[in-house]
Amino acid sequence: MPIAPKDNFLYGVATSAAQIEGAAWEDGRLDSIWDVFARKKGKIKDRSHPSPGCDHYHLWQKDVENLVWLGVNAYRFSLSWSRLIPLGRGELNPKGVSFYQRLLAALRKNDIRPYVTLYHWDLPQSLEDKGGWTNRDITSWFVEYAHKVDKALGEFIDSYIILNEPLVFTALGYLLGIHAPGRRGLANFLKAMHHALLAQAEAARAIRAQNKQVRLGTSISCVMGYPYRQQEKDLRALARFDALMNRLFVDPVVGRGYPTQELPVLKKAERYFAPQDLEKICFDFDFWGINSYTTKLVKYAWYVPYVHYREIRRDLPRTEMDWEIEPQGIYDLLKKFGSYPEIKEILISENGAAFYDEVIGGKIYDFRRINYLKQHLAMVEKARQEGVPVRGYFVWSLMDNFEWAEGFRMRFGLFYVNYETKERLPKESAWWYRELIRGNT
Ligand code: FCB
Repeated sequence: MPIAPKDNFLYGVATSAAQIEGAAWEDGRLDSIWDVFARKKGKIKDRSHPSPGCDHYHLWQKDVENLVWLGVNAYRFSLSWSRLIPLGRGELNPKGVSFYQRLLAALRKNDIRPYVTLYHWDLPQSLEDKGGWTNRDITSWFVEYAHKVDKALGEFIDSYIILNEPLVFTALGYLLGIHAPGRRGLANFLKAMHHALLAQAEAARAIRAQNKQVRLGTSISCVMGYPYRQQEKDLRALARFDALMNRLFVDPVVGRGYPTQELPVLKKAERYFAPQDLEKICFDFDFWGINSYTTKLVKYAWYVPYVHYREIRRDLPRTEMDWEIEPQGIYDLLKKFGSYPEIKEILISENGAAFYDEVIGGKIYDFRRINYLKQHLAMVEKARQEGVPVRGYFVWSLMDNFEWAEGFRMRFGLFYVNYETKERLPKESAWWYRELIRGNT
């Protein structure tokens, strides 16, 4: 490809379908779990609904222009399962396929590499009605979806990201009930966790079997933890935190098994295992996507069930999400995963910050976001120079969008979105990122 990325490095931005597309019931698309969840009272903090959102479905050409203006050489976005196969199973919806074909063709024409997430949390509701991720059959539903999508779109796709943050959608969606589909309970979580891992590897194998060229990866949520005191109890608490927050969806995939030593509660998942499952959940990914935003200080707490730790609030600057800002975290994560011999390549597939943005005379002076991105990128660069195979960095997000249970009030974008007019305005951070990519910063 004729892109000359600086030192072969990908500078990208990321989005996801449910957060930007809108047009939730247009051209054959049907409800995803987020459409249904957001209609329930009290689930979304600002009482908003993801549709019409940023209306990317209609304004995608404008968004591609914005990508070109930024000068990114990669764009990460996700496919909406309920747009492509509205009931979750069955024939592809030609209008859904044609939407993504047009988008992919426009990216190709502009030398922007598409990093396509297959599943970014928006399960078709009809599959949730059959148990969603707690039903083992989801493995074959997901494989069927992956297979059909790749047949229709694979020739335009450089790289797939199979799942986005399986820990988050299984824990918040099936254990704590604060994300769609809003279910609770340890058994639901353990089933969803195991099935997500199975589905991920089986789908990756299905794609690989028919598409030898494409690069396959997956994205995990990561949070670097630090011990409250350098004492045995806190250090062991930290190991449990790390097993849950960082290793749970990596170790089993690379053949190290579930981290049951740190988290014996995971043994309860064994009752949902079938023979050879532990082998089946392994897959040799070409790259791993790390999503990193914040850090935590961790302290032993005997009274917290299963994990026996709690997080301690530190006196550090914070984003609007109330996430502490500690750029060291992304460096430590890169060093940590860089030391896994099974991991060949790493991408920072999300990093960014929500701040309160105000339009003043047509401009958004988001200097705190610029600082955040600068500091984190410097840490990524440091890790890279020390030999960590990190090949790219994606800012979350191209534009402000539907921030799940927070609704639209959390703005992560490089572009400001006026939700009344759907107009996109580059924030100062967009200008800054553009200059950086051009090598001027
Ligand atoms: C991540 C999600 C992404 C976005 C950011 C802020 O956990 O993957 O969709 O909401 O957080």
